[in-house]
Amino acid sequence: MKHQVTLIPGEGIGPEVARATRRILEAAGVQIEWEEIAGRAAGPSDHNQRVNQEAIRSVRRNRVALKGPMATAIAGGAPSVNVALRKSLDLYANLRPVKNIPGVKSHFEGVDLTIVRENTEDLYSGLEHEVVPGVVESLKIITEKASTRIARFAFDYARRHGRKKIHAIHKANIMKMSDGLFLRSVRTVAAQFPEIQYQELIVDNACMQMVMDPLQFDMLLLPNLYGDVMSDLAAGLVGGLGVVPSANIGDDCAMFEAVHGTAPDIAGKGLANPTALLMSALLMLDHIGEHVAAERIQAALLKTYQEGIYTTRDVGGKANTEQFTNAVLDALGAITSK
Ligand code: NAI
Repeated sequence: MKHQVTLIPGEGIGPEVARATRRILEAAGVQIEWEEIAGRAAGPSDHNQRVNQEAIRSVRRNRVALKGPMATAIAGGAPSVNVALRKSLDLYANLRPVKNIPGVKSHFEGVDLTIVRENTEDLYSGLEHEVVPGVVESLKIITEKASTRIARFAFDYARRHGRKKIHAIHKANIMKMSDGLFLRSVRTVAAQFPEIQYQELIVDNACMQMVMDPLQFDMLLLPNLYGDVMSDLAAGLVGGLGVVPSANIGDDCAMFEAVHGTAPDIAGKGLANPTALLMSALLMLDHIGEHVAAERIQAALLKTYQEGIYTTRDVGGKANTEQFTNAVLDALGAITSK
């Protein structure tokens, strides 16, 4: 069966890691017809921060997308095109599996946790205004509907993937109303999944526990802001943003993307590590039912890291993107001909 997938290569190193990922998927024999499209609307680059409406239509049509990073201005400028894409497509669940890759230097071994972050509201609602000069208000929006929806996603995921325990992370001791509503909504859903252990942790304690003993965690369920911070923190435990995947999932479509940015310091130099986008593509293969190909590519990736000859500079190696990609392709060939 041929799958139709929207490919948004993105900017900076995006096209480089997208090309490498596409080569590996094709070599594994997955039948994909890529609909390649820019995520940002065409126009003068400095002023045009708008999302490409055609990209949104393409993802809606194909229901699956693979996406590279896109740049966002800091402290001013237009809102993020990445966030606009996720919001327009109502991709409410951000899924971040965090697991060691043998051969990648990390602070801990044996980490295997899954983070589920609410993706549509909280302090990322974009509702900010200046009350009077020198005073700015940012609105934190928490709704029962979105909190219940993300909790249901997390508990369903735990049930389907044999996960045993979920920690809901909050600051309801201080934000009694907003985080309180989040917690109450999660508790209602948790009660419907008695086989999954349910616990709650205040976010500051959770951060401390995470860097002291990450192996105690199985799944974390968080509102948007804490989820953003803690998922990068967790990535740091296993080697950083270059080696963890991410998926943004909604009821109608899903977009799989690397969590790192456009890496302007190395863009165009052929040095980028495609692992994060490749691993996100493996989540995508599972999502579209290509489990065998996903497992084979995963095995080739692990073999490449275990051998440790052709790894990229960000993980302490010397290889460039091309050499690393060729090593994965060689490993894939060896696995396939076994
Ligand atoms: P970044 O992730 O682009 O870079 C941070 C550091 O990690 C740099 O030294 C970079 O060279 C390195 N790095 C990142 N990915 C790498 C890879 N695949 N291989 C090798 N090295 C890699 O973060 P930064 O500099 O904060 O952001 C740059 C731009 O990317 C900004 O405009 C930001 O808004 C955007 N961004 C976009 C994201 C997305 O599209 N989802 C996510 C994060 C940032």
